[in-house]
Amino acid sequence: MARKPIIVGNWKMNGTVEETLKLITELHHKLESPEVDVVVAPPFTSLYSAYVMLQEMPTIKLAAQNMHWEAEGAYTGEISGVFLKEIACDYVIIGHSERRQYFAETDEAVCKKVASAVAQELIPILCIGETRDQRASGKTENVLESQLKKALSAIPMSEAKNIVVAYEPVWAIGSGETPTEKEIESAAYFIRNYLGRLYDAPTANTMRILYGGSVNSENSGIFLRIPNIDGLLVGGASLFPEKFLKIIESRHSSS
Ligand code: PGA
Repeated sequence: MARKPIIVGNWKMNGTVEETLKLITELHHKLESPEVDVVVAPPFTSLYSAYVMLQEMPTIKLAAQNMHWEAEGAYTGEISGVFLKEIACDYVIIGHSERRQYFAETDEAVCKKVASAVAQELIPILCIGETRDQRASGKTENVLESQLKKALSAIPMSEAKNIVVAYEPVWAIGSGETPTEKEIESAAYFIRNYLGRLYDAPTANTMRILYGGSVNSENSGIFLRIPNIDGLLVGGASLFPEKFLKIIESRHSSS
């Protein structure tokens, strides 16, 4: 079965409620029945308003940028998957390198979040990727394997197929630098293969693998042509509707 491409806009800490509604309106206005899943991830404070607006615009799906693994309780400042589900979030980004780097998110926390997301019937977009030093010292595959192994350790094969894995080299995020096509192809191949070993080949073949890191409307078509890449996780460029639209449309120009 063909994997449906998915383009995710990670807005990070950008977008007041007003800006969110404006961005979504502009995006929806120009989006013509996309053949890809289009997902936006505004900040928590905008999710509810986005949810209300998107009830009339079902072509755009909603993601959260993070979640806690518990359903509720004394965790000041946290948001659970139950709350995300209530406002029709379909996806949740988990283990983004900025969370690992600035908020000390460990592989163990990522593992619990992935398990909790799956239990709440949210689709995790699990982010993995090597740092510049790890790449330079030839450890990229070790890092990808270790992050995948730990993050997915609580997920049985029966629940793995909807999980989305985003390959995001830490050094490519927000830097304007990207790996070569060959490097992305090789990482994506490694990820698919490892998922096949972790589960089995049919399961691995249904899981979507994204590339993320300095994606823009010029390079997106190239990345979408790379074997085993099923979509993109876009940061900065997703804040501009015309750029994000071009990225969504580059799927067509690439085939
Ligand atoms: P970027 O961010 O596109 O701004 O590099 C990607 C990401 O962090 O998901």
